[in-house]
Amino acid sequence: MVNTLGLVLGLGMALTIVGLHFLKGTSKPVPEDIAQDVLEQRAATVPETDFPEPYNRSIGGGGGAGAVAAGGAEGELEDSEEEDAGFDPDAIPEDDVEYYEIEFVKEGETIEVANNENILDAGEEQGWDLPYACRQGQCLSCGGRVASGEDAHEYVRHSNNETLSDDEMEKGYMLTCTAYPTTEFSVETNETP
Ligand code: FES
Repeated sequence: MVNTLGLVLGLGMALTIVGLHFLKGTSKPVPEDIAQDVLEQRAATVPETDFPEPYNRSIGGGGGAGAVAAGGAEGELEDSEEEDAGFDPDAIPEDDVEYYEIEFVKEGETIEVANNENILDAGEEQGWDLPYACRQGQCLSCGGRVASGEDAHEYVRHSNNETLSDDEMEKGYMLTCTAYPTTEFSVETNETP
């Protein structure tokens, strides 16, 4: 009798375990993917600008929206950005590298300077002790002048010029550290407006 009861109980437990094993459990709820919604919401909060990249970054990222909102200044900003951007001498293809005779009046010599070499570097290669500080077009230490006093725009182009105004360049001044020749001319080093 006892054995029969035990057998029944044992069988019942075994069946229960087997039954539980095959029972379908409740699945863990998977949250809905809201990544796209979040992206769209964020995009909607970023003000639109009319500037193509990267101009809108260079005028202060998010602040660019304010500048655009000023209206009318759009064209001016684009123009000045283009002007200030200078040019990249490293982008000149080897086939387009040209050399010009540049007379260094105070040093008393004329040397050949490539259109991808700045006036300051070329002079230093001769061993001349020329003035400079930042070497990035951000100060005036390296200032030089077209000896004839003619418009420097006609003789050099700057890779960067954050110092000289158009008026000053028209009087012949240049930043020798970022000025690359576009034709031959005579330069007076250590000359600033
Ligand atoms: S050294 Fe500063 S602008 Fe040339």
